[in-house]
Amino acid sequence: MGFRLPGKRALVTGASRGIGRAIAVSLADAGVNVAINFFRHRGPAEEVARDIEARGTRALLLRGNVADEEHVERMFEEIKEQWGGLEILVSNAASGVLKPVSHLTLHHFHWTMDINAAALLPLVQRFILLPSEGQKCAVAVSSLGATRAIPNYAAVGASKAALESLVRHLAAELGPCGVRVNAVSAGTVDTDALKHFPNRDELLGEALKRTPAGRLVTPDDVANAVLFLCTDMAAMIQGHTLVVDGGYSILA
Ligand SMILES: NC(=O)c1ccc[n+]([C@@H]2O[C@H](COP(=O)([O-])OP(=O)(O)OC[C@H]3O[C@@H](n4cnc5c(N)ncnc54)[C@H](OP(=O)(O)O)[C@@H]3O)[C@@H](O)[C@H]2O)c1
Repeated sequence: MGFRLPGKRALVTGASRGIGRAIAVSLADAGVNVAINFFRHRGPAEEVARDIEARGTRALLLRGNVADEEHVERMFEEIKEQWGGLEILVSNAASGVLKPVSHLTLHHFHWTMDINAAALLPLVQRFILLPSEGQKCAVAVSSLGATRAIPNYAAVGASKAALESLVRHLAAELGPCGVRVNAVSAGTVDTDALKHFPNRDELLGEALKRTPAGRLVTPDDVANAVLFLCTDMAAMIQGHTLVVDGGYSILA
């Protein structure tokens, strides 16, 4: 896309696969050093690190559960020790229980909220304590389920609604300190995450049929929007949720 952010330092959570991986690689293409957070699968994260280093920027592998405050603390200590500071945070990692509301327990609900929404709080709290060269920018990855009712998506949808609200509150409070906080809300993207949907084929078929752009959203489409929000071109975009769905959500 031609955006350059040479020498900046970024942490991307859940960067070992899917959308997170595309974000990490696109930041590296723009000259950014990228810390790759993963939790369960080290192999794919190591592959991303190799992709990043092949682009001439630095990679740092950080294993940790974003829903565990001690893990988050440890990841930021490691970044401070290795790199000294951080300019970009992309909160992308997500998980969640996909069930009809009649089968959802409070345990499922809290577990999903902790990973997808609450984790942003300790991440941003540690992020703003690290030194940076110039302004800081945080981007959270959300989904259309924040504002729409989707079968089996109640817990994840509610977590994304909370995430987008938290983004606005963080933006209002941290804006005066030179921190921008925004979200990118993606339409359906065919990643590993969709394998857990009991109605995966129906979801993909419906998304393709209804999307005015005539194709599905790709991980790179989401990564391009995140990269844009990290640049000075987006200097006055604050507390916003940028929808990347090829027009899917404008239809009645
Ligand atoms: N796919 C879609 O249709 C879609 C649409 C809209 C928005 N999104 C959003 O886009 C983001 C990425 O989705 P995706 O489809 O690329 O997901 P994905 O393919 O399932 O990848 C999830 C990533 O998150 C990591 N992760 C999971 N739980 C974690 C935890 N507790 N702590 C740290 N890392 C964790 C995984 O690492 P390990 O494998 O090592 O655990 C993996 O790198 C999510 O926020 C998702 O809600 C996705």
